[in-house]
Amino acid sequence: MKLVKLLANLGYGSRKEVQRLIRSGVVTDDTGRVLGENEVPPHHQIRVRGEELDPPAPLVIMLNKPDGYTCSSEDPGDTVYDLLPPRFALRNPGLNPIGRLDKDTTGFLLLTDDGKLLHKIIHPKSGCLKVYQVQLDRPLEGHEGELFASGTLVLNSESRPLLPAKLEVLGEKEALVTLHEGRYHQVRRMFAASGNHVLGLKRISIGGLTMPDDLEEGEWRELEPDEVKAIFA
Ligand code: URA
Repeated sequence: MKLVKLLANLGYGSRKEVQRLIRSGVVTDDTGRVLGENEVPPHHQIRVRGEELDPPAPLVIMLNKPDGYTCSSEDPGDTVYDLLPPRFALRNPGLNPIGRLDKDTTGFLLLTDDGKLLHKIIHPKSGCLKVYQVQLDRPLEGHEGELFASGTLVLNSESRPLLPAKLEVLGEKEALVTLHEGRYHQVRRMFAASGNHVLGLKRISIGGLTMPDDLEEGEWRELEPDEVKAIFA
């Protein structure tokens, strides 16, 4: 790939802007030698104003989503893209959430520009279970585990029953729910169907990967290759 296209795809500007950037001499290799438009050294050797390039595609990142942020770049208000470097919103291919979280759901969000990986993880047949920690308005009544596991629960305005889901009780008003699928507002609607109301919802794992304890709210980082593998473990 030509240097102009590479930098434009990484969000450093339009092709014209990137051309100007290269001609201004701020794009160099790791020895400080100014690069021309037709030179493309290995990615890790390229510098813009002395800084390493953003990671190339395919990219997978994890984010600890705070309350109040939506997962769509088109939504008004705060979006998860505001928590990433501004260049990331201009990347081509763009980064998409692997299973969106509601505005008021917190926790583990993966984003990738790799469409195949995204579909592999969200497809119910992938076996990538999603685990949510739930805070409830009222005490659990005891019948919820059986209802969720039944495979017969049909949510309001839907006709296809939910796949069986697992409930683990953590306290009177607190539980873990494990899902195979990701329907709209699924956990909230499951508890609504059982006569309760979700006050707090946090995703804590996706497949075999649990959100690391040291990833603070609002923080993100690139996944290591073994973490991508762990999703499918
Ligand atoms: N279930 C919900 O209700 N909301 C989410 O954000 C995720 C799962």
